[in-house]
Amino acid sequence: TVLVVDFGAQYAQLIARRVRECHVFSEIVPSTMPAAEMLAKRPKAIILSGGPASVYEKGAPAAPDGLFDLGVPTLGICYGHQVMAQALGGTVENSDVAEYGGATVAVTSPGMLFEGLPHEQAVWMSHRDFVSSAPSGFTVTASTEVTPVAGMEDLERGFFGVQFHPEVLHTEHGMEILRRFLYEGAGCRPNWTMLNIADESIQAVRQQVGAKRVICGLSGGVDSAVAAALVQQAIGDQLTCVFVDHGLLRKGEPEQVEKDFVAVTGVNLHVVDAQDRFLAALDGVSDPEEKRKIIGREFIRVFEEAAREIVHGGSGGSGGSGGSSPQRGAEDAAEPVEFLVQGTLYPDVVESGGGTGAANIKSHHNVGGLPDDLQFKLIEPLRTLFKDEVRALGEQLGLPSEIVWRQPFPGPGLGIRIIGAVTRDRLDILRDADAIAREELTRAGLDRDIWQFPVVLLADVRSVGVQGDSRTYGHPIVLRPVTSEDAMTADWAKLPYDVLQRISTRITNEVREINRVTVDITSKPPGTIEWE
Ligand code: XMP
Repeated sequence: TVLVVDFGAQYAQLIARRVRECHVFSEIVPSTMPAAEMLAKRPKAIILSGGPASVYEKGAPAAPDGLFDLGVPTLGICYGHQVMAQALGGTVENSDVAEYGGATVAVTSPGMLFEGLPHEQAVWMSHRDFVSSAPSGFTVTASTEVTPVAGMEDLERGFFGVQFHPEVLHTEHGMEILRRFLYEGAGCRPNWTMLNIADESIQAVRQQVGAKRVICGLSGGVDSAVAAALVQQAIGDQLTCVFVDHGLLRKGEPEQVEKDFVAVTGVNLHVVDAQDRFLAALDGVSDPEEKRKIIGREFIRVFEEAAREIVHGGSGGSGGSGGSSPQRGAEDAAEPVEFLVQGTLYPDVVESGGGTGAANIKSHHNVGGLPDDLQFKLIEPLRTLFKDEVRALGEQLGLPSEIVWRQPFPGPGLGIRIIGAVTRDRLDILRDADAIAREELTRAGLDRDIWQFPVVLLADVRSVGVQGDSRTYGHPIVLRPVTSEDAMTADWAKLPYDVLQRISTRITNEVREINRVTVDITSKPPGTIEWE
């Protein structure tokens, strides 16, 4: 593995991902992890990420003690480059002139990282402090007009530093530089693929679980489906999937889970009709974080009850979409369920404030929304991956494309797409409008071009309209189609006008309470994809 040491970077995930694109496994660790713990992971290489701090600031994150004595080849990027320089006896200075965005570096001595690359290269910078002199033992390999040490190497000890960001696409030869560090500098072999992650996760789940029973929350989305398929391949019938119909689902969703996933994988399914319970818990609540916490908690409470029912062989709340509850033999019926599988992805963890120094943007129901008294041990095989990596894994595992290429839908469902309190009536209105928008998108053949298409009901807003010669005083609907690569950033999708027009006309004609349709044209940032 390659460890990416996170100094609070925007780009730590991106670095980890680029390393995996070089077919080398990588994982992110906080900069507070002791060096001995890092060494225990037996890393082939270490990459120090960028970060917002200045090495001079009080409390600025430093490299763990002893990190540079581990004998592991290390690459410092941006802040990581400065940390390395400072720790090893170089000088870091504060400058009046910042370098943000595109810059040109001149290669002063190709060394190992720049070998064979052009003398001048476009790179992407984002810094104010700079390394003014490299530590002894290092050769300066690159510089820019304002940054004398934009690249440095100490081949003997296997230390490399670059001030620019090789992981962003705007750095012309960034991937080549990373590849050279990994293959030449650290001797990594490009032999990691999604298949490895499948194999390794399957082994790890077997080890963690032994003969115990496991449940998995299935939502119908790609993440939980891939997580479930992986765990099923690891432990077969010890796994029961629990599908919770919380009443916040879209039209046709329970049927779809049955048809696309359960029928294909033959996994044990336990369906719980929990509509009343979720609606009661959400009664009168309009604060987004409160909704998220309630939904996260109720999910867990339902899983706990389902776990007991599975163990004691009751049919539970099975119902809804023809859910069956295949039960295991009575001989092991008393064994409690110890583990819960979740399809948590890396961006869920980061947004919930789980990265080092990362801010809590919103509490994803399966991370920041978990109750404190959680009874299960969690199994989260996708926790280090991005959505497109999960899709690749889903394809490797043989899941149907209807699942693998489904647009993301958040666990809290329509509950966070009603701005205002959630009621049954409001859910029905939103479900009808959402179904129309989805139908028209599919009819236009745009499903794969659009990352996600939330439809949001502004339940506490009314506006005046005229329909059939009468005055109306109804609610607006917001269409929020976005394009994205990984949901960390997104752009509003420029849907063709005729598609928008059909959606608007149909919604105002067919959904009685809606008299106005609007389109959200905000990118992320500054907006998030969901409104809550
Ligand atoms: P935002 O709204 O933060 O969303 O731009 C990023 C992606 O995450 C999804 N999302 C969630 N998924 N549980 C989930 O399973 C959640 O609590 C949650 N909140 C947001 C959102 O739909 C988008 O794909």
